[in-house]
Amino acid sequence: MDLGQLAELRTPAGSAALAAATEVAGADPLAAAMTLRSAGLPAGLAAAALTQAELRRRAMGKFGPAAADMFFTRAGLEQATRRVVARRRADRLRAAGVRTLADLGCGLGADALAAAHAGLRVYGVEADPLTAAIAAANAEAAGLTERFTVDHGDATAFDTDRVDGVFCDPARRRTGTGRRIFDPSAYAPPWDFVVGLAGRVPRTVVKVAPGLDHQLIPAGAEAEWVSVHGDLVEATLWCGELATVARRATVLREASPGDASSSAGSAAHHATAHELTGSTVAEAPVGPVRRYVYDPDPAVVRAHLVAELAGMLDANLADPTIAYLYADTPTPTPFARCLEITDVLPFSLKRLRALLRERRVGRVEIRKRGSALEPERLRHDLRLTGDQPASLVLTRVGGAPTVLICHPPTS
Ligand SMILES: C[S@@+](CC[C@H](N)C(=O)[O-])C[C@H]1O[C@@H](n2cnc3c(N)ncnc32)[C@H](O)[C@@H]1O
Repeated sequence: MDLGQLAELRTPAGSAALAAATEVAGADPLAAAMTLRSAGLPAGLAAAALTQAELRRRAMGKFGPAAADMFFTRAGLEQATRRVVARRRADRLRAAGVRTLADLGCGLGADALAAAHAGLRVYGVEADPLTAAIAAANAEAAGLTERFTVDHGDATAFDTDRVDGVFCDPARRRTGTGRRIFDPSAYAPPWDFVVGLAGRVPRTVVKVAPGLDHQLIPAGAEAEWVSVHGDLVEATLWCGELATVARRATVLREASPGDASSSAGSAAHHATAHELTGSTVAEAPVGPVRRYVYDPDPAVVRAHLVAELAGMLDANLADPTIAYLYADTPTPTPFARCLEITDVLPFSLKRLRALLRERRVGRVEIRKRGSALEPERLRHDLRLTGDQPASLVLTRVGGAPTVLICHPPTS
C-alpha cells in the first residue's frame, strides 16, 4: 500500500471496497480478487482493499473487534503491541501521574492509542510516512484525534521538554527484509538514543525484545517481562521514577469468547494479570526431585525470578542451572504449570518406550529444559500405540539426562 491507496481506501468508495473485500477475504485470493473485479472495482483498489481486509482479519488476535476499523501494513502489524499489553502499560503510566506522553517511533499506533484511550495526551512521531499516515487514520477510526496526534519525522529531534513521559518501542526488524534484529545497537531509533532518554526524561518507558541481555538493563531501571497465554511477548524497561522493583514478571491471560466473564465480541478487553516481583539476588535452593514438578512461565524464567517462585511454592531446583522446580505438594499458581511425577528414569529410549507401552500411553506432551533431544524426533522414535495420555519432562538431574513421566496433579 502507498499513501495514495490509503487515501483512496478512506473515501466512501474505498469504504465500500473494504466492506466488499471483508466479505470475500480469507478464501482463495484469486477468486476473491475476481469477485471484486466483477463487481466493477478497479484492479488497484480491489488489491489494496483485499490486502487490508486480510490484515484486519489477522489483527483480530492482537486488537479484537477494533481491528475491523483500523489500517495496517504487514510490518506495522507484526511489530504492534497487543492491545491487552498496551492497555496495562497505559494504565500504569496514568497511575504514575503521566498526563502527556511522547511515543517516539509510534508505528501504526497500538501503544499510543491505548495511552490515549487511558486519557493521556499522546504525541506520536514516526519516520515512515505511510506508517505515520496510518497511525493518524487509526486515531480517527478510534475517535481519539484530540488525544493522539502524529508527526512524520525523526524521533531523535523531538523536544522532550514538551511532555512529562516518554515511551519508545524501537524497530527490531530490518526495513525491506523484515528480518529480526538481535543486536540492540542496530535498533531504530538507535539504542544509545533510547537509553539516553532515561537520563533526560524522569518518566521513560522502553519496550524491548524479551531476549534482552540483562547487562543492557540501565542501572536503577525496573525490567518487566510479559507473557500472554504462556507466550513471552516483550520486556519493558521502566526508568527513573517509574521503577518500583528490580524485576517483574507479568503473566496475562485474555478471556476467551466462551468464558462467562466475557461478553460477545469483547474478548480482547478482558484479561487476568498476575505479577511476580523480586530482586536480582535471591537464589533458589537445590535439592532432590520430589513428587511434583513445576515448569515456570517464560516471563518468570526470563525475569530471573525462579528463586522467588521457589519460595512461594516451597520448592527446590534439582539442578542449579535448570529452571524446573520440585515440591511435595501441588500449590495452584498462575506462574507455572504443575505436573505430578509418576516415574523418574535415567534417559534411555528403549526403557522409556517399554514403560510407555506397558502403560498403554499413546499421546505425549513433551517439555524440556537442559536436554538436547528434539521432542518431535523423540515422539516419532517412541512409536506410541496406546490410548492413554502422559506428559514427559526431559531434563538433567545432578548433571545426568533424565526423563520424568508425569500427569496433571490429581489432588
Ligand atoms: C516497533 S515499531 C513501533 C510499534 C508501536 N509501538 C505499536 O505497537 O504499534 C517502531 C517504529 O519506529 C519507527 N522508527 C524507527 N526509527 C525512527 C526514528 N528515528 N524516528 C521516528 N520513528 C522511527 C519505525 O518506522 C517503526 O514504525
